[in-house]
Amino acid sequence: MLRKAVIPAAGLGTRFLPATKAQPKEMLPIIDTPVIQYVVQEAIDSGITDILIISGKGKRAVEDHFDRNWELEQVLSQKEDESWYNILKQIDGMADIHYIRQKETKGLGDAILHARQHVGDEPFAVLLGDTIVDATIPVTRQLMDIYDQYQQSVVSVEAVPQEKVSRYGIVGGKDISQHLKKIDCMIEKPDEQDAPSNLAFAGRYILTPEIFKCLKSTKPGKHSEIQLTDAMNILMERESLYALRAQGKRHDIGNKMDYLKTIVEFGLKRPEFATEFKQFLKEVVR
Ligand code: UTP
Repeated sequence: MLRKAVIPAAGLGTRFLPATKAQPKEMLPIIDTPVIQYVVQEAIDSGITDILIISGKGKRAVEDHFDRNWELEQVLSQKEDESWYNILKQIDGMADIHYIRQKETKGLGDAILHARQHVGDEPFAVLLGDTIVDATIPVTRQLMDIYDQYQQSVVSVEAVPQEKVSRYGIVGGKDISQHLKKIDCMIEKPDEQDAPSNLAFAGRYILTPEIFKCLKSTKPGKHSEIQLTDAMNILMERESLYALRAQGKRHDIGNKMDYLKTIVEFGLKRPEFATEFKQFLKEVVR
């Protein structure tokens, strides 16, 4: 039974400067809800009961967001409309959330290695703290279902345009079914001609605890960071790894253009804004 999730949220967010100079990119709002709240909600909706957030310098706002705010609760509880009070209560009761600090940003692999003690000898989910996936069935749940079947690590992947493969971690492998591959190679940001496919990592993983041993023996790679892809390449020599083309649309909030598109898409989906916002967009485009 898979019950633990790790959410790495300690990165510097350099692609989103200056907004991320003094605030975490994981707290950037999609209208009124911070990105990381969507991520935590996905974990909970998938059946995860224990969440470890990898925090770091300048990330206090993440911890405060999931903590109680007594003063605000008191003020809101005295108002006639209790809806905000209930929303606040809902956030602070979201799950059993724990934190550990990554003191130096030595990469995603290093961030996950910080979870070793907390996770122990169990399989666990990883949800990138700056990535939302809009899906009917939460993507982490879709991966957990594959894990239940194969008892091996499984990552979510999405097709990207061939000319953009050099921006992503790309996987290659043998088809098991229409949406599932058994991975036989993984390359971080390959040149277009070297890419084994156009399937890129999509920010969600189920990993067996063997990954911690692999991370321990992973040498710093690109940008002198411990890369998760390098550790997964070691894992692949020891265990099988699967890639699922999960149903859902990924939004990488760490990238300014994706952030802008996400706000527009989510705004159009909100019943209270949809009509007026659509009209506004039409006028702007005209
Ligand atoms: P990214 O590589 O997108 O985050 O990592 P980054 O390093 O903050 O981004 P840029 O390139 O500087 O803009 C994906 C996720 O992993 C976390 C990030 O917080 C993000 O949620 N991460 C990354 C860590 O927790 N620690 C790290 O050392 C690096």
